[in-house]
Formats: sequence, C-alpha cells, structure tokens
Amino acid sequence: MKRTLGVCYYPEHWPEEKWAEDADRMAALGLTWVRIGEFAWSRMEPEPGRYDWGWLDRAIATLGARGLKVVLGTPTATPPRWMLDRHPDMLAVDKDGRPRGFGSRRHYCFSHQGYRAECAKIVSALAERYGKNPHVAAWQTDNEYACHATTLSYSEAAKTAFQDWLAQKYQSPDALNRAWGNVFWSMEYRDFREVGLPNLTVTEPNPSHVMDFRRFSSDQVASFNRLQVEIIRKHSTAPVAHNFMGAITEFDHWKVGADLDIASWDSYPLGFLSDRIPADAEHRRRFVRQGDPDFQAFHHDLYRAVGRGRWWIMEQQPGPVNWAPFNPDPLPGMARLWAWEAFAHGAEAVCYFRWRQAPFAQEQMHAGLLRPDSAPAPAFGEAGQVARELAAMSEAGTGRAEVALVFDYASDWAWEIQPQGRSFSYFWLVFHFYKGLRKLGLNIDIIPPDTADLSAYRLVLAPGLFTLSDPLKAALAAFDGTAILGPRANSRTPDFAIPVPLPPALPGLDAVVARVESLPPDVPVALAQGGALVSWREKLEGSAGVVEAAEDGWPAMVAAGRLHYLAGWPDEAALTRILLRACAAEGIETEILPEGLRRRETATHRFLFNYNCVPAEWGGVTIPAAGVHWQPL
Ligand code: GAL
Repeated sequence: MKRTLGVCYYPEHWPEEKWAEDADRMAALGLTWVRIGEFAWSRMEPEPGRYDWGWLDRAIATLGARGLKVVLGTPTATPPRWMLDRHPDMLAVDKDGRPRGFGSRRHYCFSHQGYRAECAKIVSALAERYGKNPHVAAWQTDNEYACHATTLSYSEAAKTAFQDWLAQKYQSPDALNRAWGNVFWSMEYRDFREVGLPNLTVTEPNPSHVMDFRRFSSDQVASFNRLQVEIIRKHSTAPVAHNFMGAITEFDHWKVGADLDIASWDSYPLGFLSDRIPADAEHRRRFVRQGDPDFQAFHHDLYRAVGRGRWWIMEQQPGPVNWAPFNPDPLPGMARLWAWEAFAHGAEAVCYFRWRQAPFAQEQMHAGLLRPDSAPAPAFGEAGQVARELAAMSEAGTGRAEVALVFDYASDWAWEIQPQGRSFSYFWLVFHFYKGLRKLGLNIDIIPPDTADLSAYRLVLAPGLFTLSDPLKAALAAFDGTAILGPRANSRTPDFAIPVPLPPALPGLDAVVARVESLPPDVPVALAQGGALVSWREKLEGSAGVVEAAEDGWPAMVAAGRLHYLAGWPDEAALTRILLRACAAEGIETEILPEGLRRRETATHRFLFNYNCVPAEWGGVTIPAAGVHWQPL
C-alpha cells in the first residue's frame, strides 16, 4: 500500500487566476490528493435546477493537469438559501423545539423527505458529470455527519418517520407498550401515531423510548448516507468515503461504515484537548501544543476497523484552529508527528485542512498550510518533509494486535440516557482502557460489539457494554484467551430493562451484581492491592474466584478460568496492574513507556512518538520534542 498526502481546497474561495499556481505548489510539495467541493452547492446550483459546472470542470482539470487526484465531496452539508424557500420545514429542530436556522451549515433534518430528494438530485447530477472523470479518484459523502450536534432532530418530519420506524419494529402498540414498560406512569399508547418524540416531557422520558429514538436517529444517518453512496456507485468506480469525527457517538459509525469503501476522520488534536477530552489541568498544560498522546491513535484504530482496513485522515490540523476554548499553536514538528502516527496505524492518506487560510467568514482564524497572503505557514514545510520521508520509505502493512477492545455506540447512548452518576461516560471509560493499554506499548485493535470471532487475539476487553450481542457471547464462549468484561456488562436488555437473572449472567461465571453505587470522583473505593475504583462500583455475590478485592472486603474483580468480571471503574494504578497481569498470563510483551512517549509497530517498523515538549530517551536513542523515531523490526 502506498501512503500519500493531500490537502483540502476550496477553489470557489479564490480567483480563478490563482488556481494554476496553487496546483503547481501542491504538486511541488509532494501532495497526491486534493479534496474539493463539499460546501459548494450554491455555486454548483445557483438557482433550483440551474447547474453551473464550468468552474468545477476547470478546477478539476487544473488540478488533474498537475497529476493531482481529486476527492470530490457531495455538497449536502450546506444547502443553499433557496432550498429553504422550497422546503421551509426542512430544518432540524432542537430539544427545546427551536428550528436550527440558516446562516452556517448542517441546517437540515435527516428525516425530511423533500430534502432527501433534493440531495439525491444534486448527488446524481454531480456523479453523472464527474463519475468517469479520470481525475476524480475518490468521493466524500456530505461532511461530518453529527457535527454541531445535528443527528437528533425533534421536527415533525422526524416524528412521523420515528412512528413509522416503531410500527415496523413492534408491529403492534401492545408489543411496544410491553417492551418499554409503559404501564409505568400510565404511558400506554393505543396507536403508533400517538407516540411523540422524547423531548419536552415534564420530567425524564422513559429510557426505552429514548433508546429507540437514538437507534432510529442513527438509522436515519445511515440511510441518508446510503442513498448517496448508491447513486455515486451507479456512475463511478472510485472509492467512497465519509469524514467522521473525534469522540462523536450520535450515530452508529459501524453501520455507516459498512456502506463505505473508506472510513476517514478529521483530526484536530489541540482542538480536542482543549474542547472535549476530560483531563486535569496538569495534563492539559503538559500537552497543550501537542495534543493528548492517545486520542488520535484511538480514532485511528477505531476507523481502521470501521473502514474494514481502509482508512484516511481527511482533515489534519495544520496550526491553530478557531473553534476550541483555547487555540494554541502546535509545537514545531507536530504537523509531521500527527501524520506519521496516522501512517503507523495504517492510514492510506493524510490530508491537511486546509490549503490557504481564508481571510473571510467563520474560519478566518483557522490556520492552513499557507497564510492568507499565500506565504507558507509552518505546517507547509512539515508537510513537505513528510512527503520526502514517505518517498524514501518503501513500506506497507498495518501491523498486528494481540489485544482487542470492544467499542459500541449503543452502549454510549445507554449510559448517556441512564448514567446513574454524573461522571459515568461509556466513551471515556473505553478511552481510559485504551490509554492504559497504550502506556504499555501495545498495538490495539478496536472491534465492533457484534464481533463473532476473537481467535486472532490473546486479550479482549469490553468495559461498559450495556448488552452482549449473541455473536459476541458465542465468540467469548469459544475464546481461549483472557477476556475482561464490566463494569455494567450485560446490565440491560436491548429493550432497556434490568434482566432477570441479574447481570452479568456470564456462562460459567458464578457472580451476580447485587447492588451498584455511583460516587463523586473524590470518594475512591480503595483496593487491597493498591489503587481504587472511582465513580462506579458494584457489589458482587457468588462463588467466582476473587482476583481483586476492595479494602472493605467486597470483590472488585472475579474470574472463572480466563473470563474476568470487573466490578467498577479502575483508577490508573488499578487498571495498569490488571492489564499487566492479563498480558503476563497471555505471554503478551509489554513495555511501560516513559511519560508522553508512545509506540506502534507496523508489519515492518517500530515507531516511537514523543508527545512531550522536551526530548525523551528510549532504548539509547534521544527523541526530540515532537519527534518521531522509527527503526526496522
Ligand atoms: C471540521 C470541518 C471543516 C472545518 C474544520 C475546522 O469540523 O469538517 O469543514 O470546519 O472542522 O477545524
């Protein structure tokens, strides 16, 4: 596999006279890909039904003439103003019942049939015109589904579509009433048309109702995307991608990914550390110009799996962004390190966002490879360096992992709906486990919750899974490595009720969660061997062997053979001990890495990434701040 670099470009933002010079500079820099088009609907179709392809023909030809390959985006994330005149009710509606208006982007409801038809029309027109264009070598559908919290819509269109979805799922209102437990508080329905959306209720809505609404909303994204993919495939054999995001769980990415050829994601390490990663002040300070050392890798591993092996970075942060609470300048070297870390995790391409900083509109404070005056910004030189290094390194192969970590979108919805303690988050629980593994120098595969075969792995971790799928149950029963499940494993039915017999109900493991408690994070439950459970702890009954106990005498982790159940959220010290013990039992080699240093092995090389702002020592080598070191295996 050849690894390549690219950039996001908006020809419609610049005078046409500049395009040739831009394309020359992109090619000279060593770029392969240029992503264009994804927000240009008002230029592609200035009036309903009147298309203007001339400028796009010339832009693609200009890029293609320099050997650059185009990723062509469908423009459906930015419907033009005229669309609202045609479909005034197409806007998504927020939880408080307010429409999300025109004047930025993503102003549409996934359930609006009229808007879907308009999308089908523009995508057909685009795919017909460029499907056979030799320079259009990949496609991107829409842009960042779920960005700006746009998956859940409480519109009339969503209500009708939800009712239809429920009718399809339950067939009769009685079946729905039973599944949801609607006898509670006299919530029973006589007709599917009586079911509303789970907002604007007096107090919390029924969790089963919300769970189905989350599933429905996720399915709407998948079918919206599928509509576009099917149209593109009629006209083009080029691969179809979508650009996913970081720490976004509003829809099931496994399902959307199943319809794509390539999964890609948009990586903004400094924005994420400032904006969404829960971390203490010291961690934020330490990594303020480098980003969290594990957040990017987590998503690389996630999207490699979502793309069934094929994945890209569609947007890579090049400098300060505009949207986070604080927007620092990356340490010199980070635009290179981030790209190499993606390649070491198997990325086929890394595209920087964006070519030139736009001096107008919303993102004028967002850096590009070039400044607004076209002079190179610092990332320009770093991208060039990566391009030269890629040319010098003939290498392929993603590398193998002996450890797998299950990631399930529905579990994130479940524990968002019923956290039972303010600090319980499924996403950050899984990420905590991931971090623990990475600090031990391990390669990790992230796998879906319906994985049916675990035989490639020695250690499988599934924290927080609200329900166990039948395929995963069967795979666990056949698995001869170490498995660690819990906390909260299998603790709800798919309908969102507590199952009886009580959880975790794992075959062969005599353990029952008799009681759970959530605790403020500053009230840890100390463990006898050191470390603690924090925020969440379960009290177990049963005869299963105790591997870890709390100081108050309750079991904290039990096992039957190699199947383990963890009865709480372990702090870092407890987690490290648990992981080291499991790896030792399975003969998995570990290395406790120095702070801020991370490692990844491909099929041919060992890579080390120094996320520190000071040099790090490793194996007799000094790796500079923000440095990358690699050696053949
Ligand atoms: C992404 C988006 C881009 C741009 C970028 C700025 O979320 O896809 O269009 O807005 O953020 O960082």
